[in-house]
Amino acid sequence: MAVEEMEQLVLGLGDQLRWAADVEAPAPIEVPGGLLIVGMGGSGISGDLVSVLASVPVTVHKGYGLPAWVSNRPPAMIALSYSGNTEETLSAVEEARDLGLTPGVVTAGGALGELAVGNGWPHIIVPGGLQPRAALGYMMGSLLRLVEDSVDLKPGDFSAAADLVDQLTGGLGRDLATDLAAGLRDRIPVIYGTNGLTSPVAQRWKTQINENAKWPAWWNTMPELDHNEIVSWTSLSTLTRRHVGIIALRDDSESSRVEARYNLTARLTGSDVAWVGEVWAQGVSRLERILSLCAMGDLVSLELARAGSIDPMAVPEIETLKQLLAEEPL
Ligand code: PA5
Repeated sequence: MAVEEMEQLVLGLGDQLRWAADVEAPAPIEVPGGLLIVGMGGSGISGDLVSVLASVPVTVHKGYGLPAWVSNRPPAMIALSYSGNTEETLSAVEEARDLGLTPGVVTAGGALGELAVGNGWPHIIVPGGLQPRAALGYMMGSLLRLVEDSVDLKPGDFSAAADLVDQLTGGLGRDLATDLAAGLRDRIPVIYGTNGLTSPVAQRWKTQINENAKWPAWWNTMPELDHNEIVSWTSLSTLTRRHVGIIALRDDSESSRVEARYNLTARLTGSDVAWVGEVWAQGVSRLERILSLCAMGDLVSLELARAGSIDPMAVPEIETLKQLLAEEPL
């Protein structure tokens, strides 16, 4: 059954990271100023995740072309596209080439792979044949290898993270994932992270729930949400009390102010939503902690797919949209 198929891929996250740790990579890209990462969806999320591990300023661009500032202050740049054929990412890379930039590339092939090889750009070609969102370990791990001089990583962090996600996906995280999915069953999940570490993981949870379970979900960032979203749960509370579940992604490194905000936010809003839960990051390094939460999000999305008898592999609307767009005039 399709849930088991995606489950096998989630179980492979640790091995994908080990592959990336061992793959022959070009010399790390120098990042004297800022780093620009371009990529969409299941590929672009690796840029968001790496941005919180970086020791340099990182901008993640998700759209056509390049941000306007790039021509004035050309950054180091990396393009991520698992298929290698995503039109927004290709348009960014073509614009970068026209500006004389040399983008690094992580892809399984496609037009982006051809551009990287043909132009001699630094690149890592990852194994193909997967759904982009199921290739997180290959894509994120390879991105980390391309910028390893500009990220907060120590020797052994990769293998420790791989071992930890193996433990979680292989059994230790299963009961918690089942409990969290039970809290979200028939509800719209709203995932909260904290800026600086877990916000991109909240985004990953949202998109995994969208794509694997075909379930609407939203995410937001603490403390920003305390300045707007916190007031939003009252007007439709007859609806939200039945149909919204909030999960906070927590980490021991949160400041005491952020911890207080989570507690107070739950106290002030908890009665206007159906359920509030939380899950704590595990591990020592920042890489372990964000990947432990990513692994839990993957497991929760699969539990929701299972509960709804949904095929987590297929994403027909994404594929149909890409085909229809290809038929539209440029
Ligand atoms: O998960 C998916 O399939 C999508 O979000 C894709 O990642 C997205 O459409 C971009 O494609 P690619 O990752 O091949 O660049």
